Amino acid sequence: MKILKTMATAAVALCAAFSAQARPIDAIQKDGKIIIATEGQFAPFNYFNGTQLTGFEVEVANLVAKKMNLKVEWKTLGFDALLTGLAQDRWDVAIASHGVTEERSKAVTFATPHYCSGGMVISMDPAIRAGKDLAGKVVAVQTGTSYLENVKKVPGVKDVKNFPTDVDARSALTSKRVDAWVTDKFVAKEVAAKNPKAGLKLGDMLFIEKIAPAVAKGNTGLADAWNKAFAEILADGSYAAVSKKYFNEDVRCT
Ligand code: ARG
Repeated sequence: MKILKTMATAAVALCAAFSAQARPIDAIQKDGKIIIATEGQFAPFNYFNGTQLTGFEVEVANLVAKKMNLKVEWKTLGFDALLTGLAQDRWDVAIASHGVTEERSKAVTFATPHYCSGGMVISMDPAIRAGKDLAGKVVAVQTGTSYLENVKKVPGVKDVKNFPTDVDARSALTSKRVDAWVTDKFVAKEVAAKNPKAGLKLGDMLFIEKIAPAVAKGNTGLADAWNKAFAEILADGSYAAVSKKYFNEDVRCT
């Protein structure tokens, strides 16, 4: 019994040591470089234009880092890996349109939300447009997203199909392997505008969410420094300019 207790205490200490490994703000400043991870497959928020990583939140993060006087090293990974990598100290910040959920807030610390949005129902059939229309239907979502979580709560959904990327979930809809796709409303708007002949019907919002960058759980020094710089770009018009460029509107949370 005693030995078990000792082992449990050691395990707790080990976990604490691991979580304390997240680079504190002074280490990042000393290095002069912040490591930021994203997915790169979620246009217009984070995506590749040829070999160039870009997108609304990539540009916002670059502006924030500039205010912090830091260079950025970008890493791109599967969506699933982004939050777990924070705890392993593989990067300092993850910014990939993560909705602030209760579940995620247990594992990471969210900075100030950088935009507000929500999940929208998209289909090829004008009769499928609201949450209630998903009853008896097969719905495509990206794995590990808040879309999955929220579609699961809709009563009567026949099946929720998971895809590694949101682009794959969209293809499942356009090739009619599923009846509906749930994704971010701005993603849906852009896809519909770029593919006017695809026959996509933008339906109602299924839920709304605040989207925020994440740092390792408890790395409040970094979150505070990031938030201060983020407040500066909200105030000096540079956030507004990037938002207008991508969306023709200001997408900040009000
Ligand atoms: N907003 C959704 C969520 O919080 C989807 C984010 C998807 N991001 C991405 N880079 N694919 O889960």
